[in-house]
Formats: sequence, C-alpha cells, structure tokens
Amino acid sequence: MKLEDQYKILYFKDLGDERGNLIVIEGEGMDIPFDIKRVFYIYGSDDKVVRGQHANRETEFLLVNVGGKSKVRIDNGTEETVVELDRPGMGLYLPPMLWKDMYDFSPDSILLVLASRHYDDREYIRNYETYLREIKGETK
Ligand code: TYD
Repeated sequence: MKLEDQYKILYFKDLGDERGNLIVIEGEGMDIPFDIKRVFYIYGSDDKVVRGQHANRETEFLLVNVGGKSKVRIDNGTEETVVELDRPGMGLYLPPMLWKDMYDFSPDSILLVLASRHYDDREYIRNYETYLREIKGETK
C-alpha cells in the first residue's frame, strides 16, 4: 500500500469565539476513525532528541501539536515522508505498522497523542530490522 494512502492529515473545526479557541476531537468515527482509549502528551523535548523510533502492531494514533511544533517522519518500509505539526487544529492520523520518529521539537512544543489502545509494550516493534521483516511478511 502506498504511504500516502496510509496516514491522514486531518483538520479540526475551531469552535472558538471572542473568549478564545476551542477545538474538539471526537472518537469512534466522528472526527477520527477510532475509539480513544489512551491520551499522552510529550513536552520538554528539544531539537536534539529523536523520539518514537518504533512501530506499533495494533495501535492507531492521532498526533496534534497543541502548542509549538515538531516533525514526524513516517516510514512504511518502502517510502518515507515528513509531516510538520505546527498548529492546534491539525492532526496526523497513523494506522498500525508504520515506523515513526518525532523530532525537531520547538521549546514550547506540546505534542498530544490520542491512541486506540491501552499501553502494551508487547505490541511495540523497536528494532527496524524486525519491523522490515514483519512488514514483508504482511505484504506477501
Ligand atoms: P517511549 O515509547 O520511549 O516514548 P516515545 O514514543 O515518545 O518515544 O516511552 C517512554 C517510556 O514510557 C517507556 O518506558 C514506555 C512508557 N510508556 C508508558 O508506560 N505508557 C505509554 O502510554 C507510553 C507512550 C509510554
């Protein structure tokens, strides 16, 4: 499958008014395709660290830089691309089995992550060679 058909860049409505901004992300197929089971956020990273460096066998994710900006490199074993997250109304949807690196965090970056599953270390692939082996097995 082509990489551009795997990830999605989504834009969410801003329901803000003169009091300020308000962005809503509803799960279960409303704004994003999955039911949200877990939320985490990453901040205090900088432009020298690379986070992620793994693929998930099961979990779908939605990444939003609710503050600041960062970049996400996505790799499907054949193609790769970089998405810059730099506004609170923009989300990057990632299905399972994509390799991802997050990097180039601005000092004020707050990267919010919504996930379709609870944390389970067993569904993480942290070795790129293992990832490539599993991807090739899948597409046979
Ligand atoms: P890690 O996977 O290295 O974070 P990133 O995706 O940003 O590279 O996670 C750091 C530590 O936190 C690691 O020991 C696993 C743990 N962790 C949880 O316990 N639950 C979670 O939901 C996440 C994302 C990480």
